[in-house]
Amino acid sequence: MDAVERDRHDYARGSLDVGDVDPHPLRQLERWIADAVEAEVGEPNAMTLATVDGDGRPDARVVLLRRITDTSLVWFTDRRSAKGEQLVATPHAALVFHWQPLERQVRLRGPVVELDDAESDAYFASRPRGSRLSAWASHQSQPTASREAYERQVEDVEARFEGVEDVPRPPYWGGYALAPVEVELWQGRRSRRHDRLRFRADGAGAWTLERLQP
Ligand SMILES: Cc1cc2nc3c(=O)[nH]c(=O)nc-3n(C[C@H](O)[C@H](O)[C@H](O)COP(=O)(O)O)c2cc1C
Repeated sequence: MDAVERDRHDYARGSLDVGDVDPHPLRQLERWIADAVEAEVGEPNAMTLATVDGDGRPDARVVLLRRITDTSLVWFTDRRSAKGEQLVATPHAALVFHWQPLERQVRLRGPVVELDDAESDAYFASRPRGSRLSAWASHQSQPTASREAYERQVEDVEARFEGVEDVPRPPYWGGYALAPVEVELWQGRRSRRHDRLRFRADGAGAWTLERLQP
């Protein structure tokens, strides 16, 4: 763990000021994702999703951002999973992007709703056949006896849908949309004097923007 203790990266790639950012935080997020794509960051749409269970205990894992609407960020998953159960107990979540080569982080918090069936159907239909079958074969977050036992489930599903061109969406699989009420942009700066700008929804459809101490 010496390497962890000794790491002393000084951030110097950029800076961030109120005048630099789009007045709408989701348009600004799109700009930064575009920058991450341009910089060839691996999986620039990967984001950590933090949820809270019924006992108030947090959990977190990475999911892929699949859409940004005017008001929300969308991802897809098995709604029977741990995160799905947690979102029933506590329909609020946080998301974090980290694009290391750009020395940037974005944090978002807000309420979460399930996407409607038509939207989940449309996205499911766009997935490769193998991914669609995998959604049927796995009960996400449940234990399995072995890798082989899971692969038998995959084979069973392949047999069940043999010859079926349009594999339908399983009823338990679908999208979630988080509508942020807070969005923080972080840009690393020298000697830990980082730039932090936080948007907050004012409740009337507008956003306030303030600088935070690093
Ligand atoms: C880069 C990356 C992308 C991922 N994307 C998704 C995703 O979009 N949806 C999903 O359900 N799981 C995704 N996963 C797997 C999740 O991190 C997690 O293992 C899974 O959703 C089960 O989480 P849970 O038990 O907390 O519900 C991804 C993992 C990684 C590392």
